[in-house]
Amino acid sequence: MHITVDGRPVEVPPGTNLVDAAKAAGIHIPVYCYQEALGPLGACRICLVQVEKMPKLVTACTTQVQEGMVVHTRGPEVDKGRAGVLEFLLLNHPLDCPVCDKGGECDLQDYTFAYGPAAGRFTEPRIRKAKDVPLSPYIALDQERCILCQRCVRFLGEYVGEPQLVLEARGVHTVVTAAGGAPLTSPFSGNVIDLCPVGALLSRPYRFRARPWNLEKVEGICGLCPVGCRRLLTVRDGVVERAEGTSRSDPDGRGWLCDRGRFSYDEARHPQRRTRPRLGGAEREAGEVVAAAARWLAEGPVAVLTGGELTVEEAAALTDAARRLWGAGAPVLVRTGRGYLPPALHGTLQDLQTADAVLLLGADPYQSVPVGYLAVREAYRRGAGIWGLAPRRLGRRALPVQEHVTAPGEEAAVLARALAAAGVGGAAALLQDLGDWQPAAGTGDLEALGRALLGAARLAVIWDGEEAGVEDVLLALAAARGEAPTRVLPAWGPAGWRGQELAGVRVTAAALEGVLRAAAAGEVGTLVLWGTDLLREAPDPELAARALAGAGHVLAAGAFLSPATRADAWLPLPVRTEHGGTFADWEGTLTAVRAAVPPQPGVRTTGAWLEALAAAAGRRWAPPADPLAGRMTGSRLRLLPDVPAPAPRPLRRPEAAGAGSPCCGAGMPTGGDPPRPSSCVPPPLGRWRRRMPSAWTGLPAVRSGSGGRRGSWFCRWRPIPPCRRAGCGCLMTCRRRPAACRPGPGSWPRRRKRRRRWMAGERAHPGGEDRHPDPVSADLLRLHHVGGTAAAGPLPAALGPQPGGAGRAAATPGRRLEDAVQGGPAAGAGRPGGIPPGAGDLGVRRPGGGRRDPLRGPCPFGRPHHPPGCGQPAGGAAGGLRLELAGHLRAGAGRLGLPEQVLPIGRHPLRGPDHLL
Ligand code: SF4
Ligand code: SF4
Ligand code: FES
Repeated sequence: MHITVDGRPVEVPPGTNLVDAAKAAGIHIPVYCYQEALGPLGACRICLVQVEKMPKLVTACTTQVQEGMVVHTRGPEVDKGRAGVLEFLLLNHPLDCPVCDKGGECDLQDYTFAYGPAAGRFTEPRIRKAKDVPLSPYIALDQERCILCQRCVRFLGEYVGEPQLVLEARGVHTVVTAAGGAPLTSPFSGNVIDLCPVGALLSRPYRFRARPWNLEKVEGICGLCPVGCRRLLTVRDGVVERAEGTSRSDPDGRGWLCDRGRFSYDEARHPQRRTRPRLGGAEREAGEVVAAAARWLAEGPVAVLTGGELTVEEAAALTDAARRLWGAGAPVLVRTGRGYLPPALHGTLQDLQTADAVLLLGADPYQSVPVGYLAVREAYRRGAGIWGLAPRRLGRRALPVQEHVTAPGEEAAVLARALAAAGVGGAAALLQDLGDWQPAAGTGDLEALGRALLGAARLAVIWDGEEAGVEDVLLALAAARGEAPTRVLPAWGPAGWRGQELAGVRVTAAALEGVLRAAAAGEVGTLVLWGTDLLREAPDPELAARALAGAGHVLAAGAFLSPATRADAWLPLPVRTEHGGTFADWEGTLTAVRAAVPPQPGVRTTGAWLEALAAAAGRRWAPPADPLAGRMTGSRLRLLPDVPAPAPRPLRRPEAAGAGSPCCGAGMPTGGDPPRPSSCVPPPLGRWRRRMPSAWTGLPAVRSGSGGRRGSWFCRWRPIPPCRRAGCGCLMTCRRRPAACRPGPGSWPRRRKRRRRWMAGERAHPGGEDRHPDPVSADLLRLHHVGGTAAAGPLPAALGPQPGGAGRAAATPGRRLEDAVQGGPAAGAGRPGGIPPGAGDLGVRRPGGGRRDPLRGPCPFGRPHHPPGCGQPAGGAAGGLRLELAGHLRAGAGRLGLPEQVLPIGRHPLRGPDHLL
């Protein structure tokens, strides 16, 4: 279609609306309710334009182009119309811009400045609405500032399919509110903060922390899952204050963040971070540690394992050092799963969004690659068929999946059988060694599945990489589909492994297993763990433990290290926000980023440590100057390594591959013997691929296999056991349910109902039910370490060790809450991350009467008493207080009956959870 916008000719496809057409001509039309991903609504009327031969002004977002259209986006009539719209929007607006977090980056301010009337004519009293309504531990709503554009409502309701925000009441009294008064639990809820064009939806951890003109925005990468989303880090005075999604108009469809990536931005100041070199478990001077490590490395033989934390440049430097300095082979990536994705099949998010059929192969994207889930949901909304082939059900209300539930370890064989039934010769050849093997009963109509995959015009697959051999079946499928694109996205980690591969790191599971077996057999003199926490990240933790025990020395470098991992020498590395370089994302796209904040004192880059190790050994060495050989000319480059596809191998019998799903004895599949009993139901949780301590983001410290592995922190009854390490105070360290513990009474639905009633204030705090029992709310709880501190509201666990209950103080009126929690006004110093000493040292009266045991928090497993050996740390009371207060807030009580000086939120220096109260 050819149209003219403000005298500029432009050609756009049919169906384009005038806002997008004007943008193509380089002309901006103001919008509030329209958003590219959500589509037009026509609610706000700010986008008025004049179209020749049309009698009245029209809304540009709801008007589609017609051949020969002539559009005027400015002019007296248009400006008058927009001024009228703005005057109406401002009738009841509180005009509290000086204290609004959005001030300076607010569309209402900007458009009022550009198009608005100089003065309002309305002199009546303004309608007052609720302010500071907490929607979740992370999001606050100011109903007075809302202009009812409905972006937030539509995003959660239509785009995500979780309608947790709704409009309530009518006319001028209409407000946005949480559906049913329940807290937002969607893992994508944080996106409404970005979407809101005004300061109505705000980040609670960020509130009152900065003004936009004091901030610097730096593009960074979230590496918490294989997607590797780009995010904008807001930095003030060398501290990351928040993370935002990149523009939604990003042409490759990026821009959303899940709440994990959005709120876990301040890893640099995490209390568990180590910034001093260590030798033999104790902190030492860097020179001493480097000298000892250089001695070990010179003795050889050396094997090097690496993780996903490194940039391409660092991985290349490590590869070079391993070969030239230490005489070792190329580093091997510690990775999950056993499969390998051929580069020829590697797809993009857009392939997912525009696919006609999506196959979820072992992976639940909602859990393992959340932003990938949004792309699948978008494909579903466009009419794509969603197919699932996994050892468990993957569908949910917002994303119906045509399920094919296999036995664990049989995905490759079942997929090959489905394709063979649909006539794919290559798949039939792969099945030749399987003899009389049959898929488990109840796997579904495999022929229909095979025909659907073969017939789809554009097929996208999300594969968890758990099983070797699947890649051969996918290659056979791609060959049979011919020209029709077959694109696969890997739901295994670590993030950025394509970049490591590009830098020469070996990424196959076989290479990793070879190194671990050699180390376990005592054939490795020094095992180097560079940017990986082996025990947490290796697919086989038992083999990893044997490798650590069998190696002569273990030299580790990283930002975090699980206490269980052996590290004879430890070198601190920068976290992702502290170093620049080139990272690869889910699509294999390389993004060049720069450091957002300076490294902590004592921390050095990979190149600096390697140079120091070389110097200590009397060698001259410098990192390769440009490992990408000048190919990175812009900030972004889609570049997959040129790796030939592996030769197809006939599939082995699943049983022979040893890929059953045994049980740990506590109801969780584990990955070892004995076989999983038929009575065991795998927990409904995805396969997170982790590299950071789970304590930080709540992701499983040890990946689940086909539904779970030994050591995973979740079980059916209690998804978030609290950390038992003295002084840690987080909820999320990996641990198993103690043998002495039995789950508390009540089924999941009953517990959920009790919690809802409690939240709604209909019943007193249920005994032993201080925790959110359902896994959805648990997602929020896992995220409470925000900004390097415990920052969310409902914190049921202890914040630290209790000094025998001494110095307990009640939160009585007249006493500042932070003082009560800290045990004194100046007690905030001395603990990393701002968690005050003595936090939790507080006796609290429970709403239902009686006094909670101040030395121990509630039983994390729902029992009325702590079972022997449960290990629950003393001092859950302060957390309980927060939970109760947060409960009041959520129940709509609004401001608490606490001393005034506790509020407003965030004005005091304590950066802990009290902030949020
Ligand atoms: S809260 Fe923000 S995004 Fe939601 S309707 Fe109001 S102005 Fe729009
Ligand atoms: S989807 Fe993954 S990479 Fe993206 S923000 Fe969430 S955790 Fe981070
Ligand atoms: S942006 Fe067009 S009516 Fe709101």
